[in-house]
Amino acid sequence: MLLTTTINGRKKEILIKDDDYLLDVLRKEGYLSVKRGCDTGACGLCTILLNGSPILSCSTLAARAHGKQISTIENFPKEAKTFASYMTAEGAEQCGFCSPGFTLTVIAMTKELQDPTDDEIMHYLNGNLCRCSGYISQLRAIRNFMEEIKNENC
Ligand code: FES
Ligand code: FES
Repeated sequence: MLLTTTINGRKKEILIKDDDYLLDVLRKEGYLSVKRGCDTGACGLCTILLNGSPILSCSTLAARAHGKQISTIENFPKEAKTFASYMTAEGAEQCGFCSPGFTLTVIAMTKELQDPTDDEIMHYLNGNLCRCSGYISQLRAIRNFMEEIKNENC
């Protein structure tokens, strides 16, 4: 089928097979920030945003993106850079495999949840498995990032 979708604001038409997964299609199209980890829906490395919500591209058929908006981390250069600086300040940096998916999930959360509790933040992020740098330092970085966004919107 011909998949018509928008990727990072650009309309795309891509010939796909009915059983192609989004992860494979995106990587074939050159969106290499979308990583493959477990390939079983368990790690969150392959997270992308579909119409603004985080989904696992390794277990989502590409056909489901027909007529929808896909975002990878390249769509959020400013937010990603700002968030990375808060992560670094807290010693909470993650590696290049898990950072894109983790950062995308945090960005989606800031748009979806107004004033989340720590538990709600943890719950939102529970699909992004690896926390090599620790959970609490990341939580501080996320809180600082959300505070900056709140101040920008004032
Ligand atoms: S590669 Fe998709 S959840 Fe691990
Ligand atoms: S897998 Fe990326 S920091 Fe652990």
